[in-house]
Amino acid sequence: MGTAAKIVVGCDHAGFPLKQALIERLQEWGHQVEDLGVHSADRVDYPDFAHPVARKVVEEGALGLLVCGTGLGMSMAANRHPGVRAALCHDVFSASMTRAHNDANVLCLGARVVGVGLAEAILRAFLQGSFEGGRHAARVAKIENS
Ligand code: RB5
Repeated sequence: MGTAAKIVVGCDHAGFPLKQALIERLQEWGHQVEDLGVHSADRVDYPDFAHPVARKVVEEGALGLLVCGTGLGMSMAANRHPGVRAALCHDVFSASMTRAHNDANVLCLGARVVGVGLAEAILRAFLQGSFEGGRHAARVAKIENS
C-alpha cells in the first residue's frame, strides 16, 4: 500500500492494544516498523514514548505514529521537537490534508476515541497522502520560525 516507508511507533498503556493492531497492518502493507514501546498495558507516562519517537523522526527523516488514550498528550510532547509536525487526526480527511498542506510527519491517534477500523483508515490516508509544496511550503516553514 503506497510507497514503503520507515515508521517509528510509540504508545502508552492506553494506546497499547491499538498500537499492536496498527503495527500488524503496517507490516502487511509492506512498511518498515520500528516499535519503541511501550510493550505491555502496564501504566506508563506518554511523554517517555513521545520524545524518543520524535527524536528518531527528526534524525532519520522517518514518519512517526503515536497512540495514547486521546492522542492529545502525545501530540503536545512530540510537537516540542523542532522539525516534528505531529497531527492529531480522528477523521480520514484531516489525515490526508495534514500530509498535503502541513507536511505532517507524525500521526497521533487516541485509542479511546476511535476504533481499530477507523484508526486503520486514518493511518492509510495519512500514508497515502503527499505534500503539495508550493504555497504550503512557505507556510510550513513559518511553523518553525515562531
Ligand atoms: C492516560 O490515562 C491518558 O491520560 C493518556 O493516554 C493520554 O490520553 C494523554 O493525553
